[in-house]
Amino acid sequence: MAEQTTEERGIRIEGLGKRYGRGDTAVDALRQVDMSVAPGEVVGLIGPSGSGKTTLLKCLGAVIEPSAGRMTLGGTVIYDNGWTIRDLRALRRDKIGFVFQAPYLIPFLNVTDNIALLPMLAGQPNREARRRARELLDALDVGHRALAMPSQLSGGEQQRVAIARGLVNRPPVILADEPTAPLDSERALTVIRILNDMARKFETAIIVVTHDEKIIPTFKRIYHIRDGITGEEQGEGRDLR
Ligand SMILES: Nc1ncnc2c1ncn2[C@@H]1O[C@H](COP(=O)(O)OP(=O)(O)OP(=O)(O)O)[C@@H](O)[C@H]1O
Ligand SMILES: [Mg+2]
Repeated sequence: MAEQTTEERGIRIEGLGKRYGRGDTAVDALRQVDMSVAPGEVVGLIGPSGSGKTTLLKCLGAVIEPSAGRMTLGGTVIYDNGWTIRDLRALRRDKIGFVFQAPYLIPFLNVTDNIALLPMLAGQPNREARRRARELLDALDVGHRALAMPSQLSGGEQQRVAIARGLVNRPPVILADEPTAPLDSERALTVIRILNDMARKFETAIIVVTHDEKIIPTFKRIYHIRDGITGEEQGEGRDLR
């Protein structure tokens, strides 16, 4: 099958399954996952430990391959029942912004360069890459640490830098795994506000895995996952202004 694109942007998953291992010890981490996130939308994903949240994000992030189902990201078909897109590295670089629970900053680059590196790799001029980095650092209230090294930052500051890095290339899809866990209430809400602003401004589709009670009321739509099966519910969609 040749590479396919669709008119449909955002994220769409249909009947996704993931089996780890084989035979007697096989684990069906995902059984039947259906999910869609429109461009400009931020949805929550919640579920108990072992329910398949990280597995789902890894499939979405093209880090592991699902065993069944179909998935499209930002208008490109990534998997379709056993078929996988060829250039997964380009896909990850161009389409997906990751925000992990652990910051994984590059220890020998300062804060600004940790962020500016990605737009530079994507072909932006250095000045523009640094300008974008500084803009996001200011928005996330770590602009005053722009020239510090990662080891000189607090845990929460490192996390905010990692969030800036996930957003800087303005990918059509952002996947965030517990992005606010180490942050206090006000900063957690700032992060959610920025994700919502990004979503609106750049038509980004964003999935936030969380069990952070501080931010759950902000989602308009929430997916639940239990034993590898998703369900959907209306969230409170509390105003962030
Ligand atoms: N590499 C693997 N090999 C085999 N089984 C795995 C592997 N990774 C995860 N699993 C199993 O798949 C299921 C889903 O795991 P997953 O990590 O997706 O859960 P989770 O919802 O992220 O949980 P948590 O909230 O604890 O992070 C679990 O039963 C887990 O033991
Ligand atoms: Mg997990």
